[in-house]
Amino acid sequence: MDAVYDSSGGRSSTDRFPVGATVTLEDLANDAHPCLARLRDAEPVSWLPAIGGWLVTGREPALTVLRDADSFTVDDPRFSTAQVVGPSMLSTDGDDHARHRTPFAAAFRQVAVRDGFEAWTSTEARRLLAGHLALGHCDLRQVLAGPLAVGVIARALELADADPDRVLGWYRAIVDGVEGVNAGRAVGDGTRRAVADLRSVVDRTVRDSAGSLLAEVAEGGSLTADELFSNTAVLMFGAIETSEGMTANALAHLLGSADQLEAVAADRSLVPDAVEESLRMEPAATLVDRYATGAVELAGIAISVGDLVTVSLAGANRDPAVFVDPDRFDVGRPNLSLQLAFVRGPHTCLGLHLARLQTIAAVDAVLDLIPGAGLDDDFESARGLVFRKPATVPVTWDHPQSV
Ligand code: HEM
Repeated sequence: MDAVYDSSGGRSSTDRFPVGATVTLEDLANDAHPCLARLRDAEPVSWLPAIGGWLVTGREPALTVLRDADSFTVDDPRFSTAQVVGPSMLSTDGDDHARHRTPFAAAFRQVAVRDGFEAWTSTEARRLLAGHLALGHCDLRQVLAGPLAVGVIARALELADADPDRVLGWYRAIVDGVEGVNAGRAVGDGTRRAVADLRSVVDRTVRDSAGSLLAEVAEGGSLTADELFSNTAVLMFGAIETSEGMTANALAHLLGSADQLEAVAADRSLVPDAVEESLRMEPAATLVDRYATGAVELAGIAISVGDLVTVSLAGANRDPAVFVDPDRFDVGRPNLSLQLAFVRGPHTCLGLHLARLQTIAAVDAVLDLIPGAGLDDDFESARGLVFRKPATVPVTWDHPQSV
């Protein structure tokens, strides 16, 4: 999720990886799946001059990288999020990673998330959609997926005086900063101001909001004030774009697949499987970066110390060795739990239960409130190099329902 692409060439001969040598960033962003399939078939661990590193598209080597933080670490000065917000659980490994992550873990466990968020997300998803029912059309990414993602993390962080618009402002400024660093620029003034503003709100929340998540983590005493801030920023950064994409992708997959939609509408207990299958087809965060801590072999390929090793979750999730007919959206797959959209290993997404809950709430709201909705003909499928989602999810329905 934190790519630095400099196309400065690699340590390995491109002759050995002829498919990887031809792949461009545009291929990966726009026409990703056929390109990933070519790589996975011929070079499941391939050197890509376009990213200046290795791209892993086979599920087996992907799992190896994700699980082995001793050999493939996130803790590297090239990691751009850490340059903007400071070290956090996302940019550390080993004991330090546990120290950053553990204080937040309880709040994001499945039961805690269900108790704290299930009713609220359901009501909020319906509220967001309700204002548009009479129109007969809308963009579900804009009216539902995006605002729901911001509202959920704003509620989870319980920041003092922070409504969703303010949270969105901080988020955008941090994303700007991270993108700037990725493009080789220094962190700009707008990002610095937003970081300082968010920092003061985090400090105030700890001081004034006893019992809130951040106050409790601070009270635990294992993180400095700087670290509490950086992890808060990472929670925000990790939640918004990804959850918006996850919900937009799930709605698009389901509404775009008549037979699967019919099955899910007839048996609503299938909604979680539909969401999981959508995560398999199009993981909203599709590339994650690691750095080799030493010379190491991966699927028979020699990796050198310091090499960038990028895992394509989208590639792994369509590996035909694991998923039969992998390009087909099929909510009845028996092995959906093998999909890797939330990765595996020490950096497994902390927010996965909260993310699933909100996307399920959004799908349920759409099926309940606009049951006849269909994707418009001008719908264009997901794009993006690191984060993948459709630009819009335009839908139309004939018979506006009442709430
Ligand atoms: C409420 C929503 C979410 C929150 C609060 C959240 C939070 C986080 C946090 C804090 C981490 C870092 C964990 C660590 O390094 O130990 C993380 C990792 C990750 N998250 Fe999430 N996340 C959310 C939604 C999502 C969604 C919707 C996706 C994709 C569909 C996603 C994909 C990932 C991935 C791939 C990683 C691993 C990054 C890596 O290994 O480099 N997250 N998430």
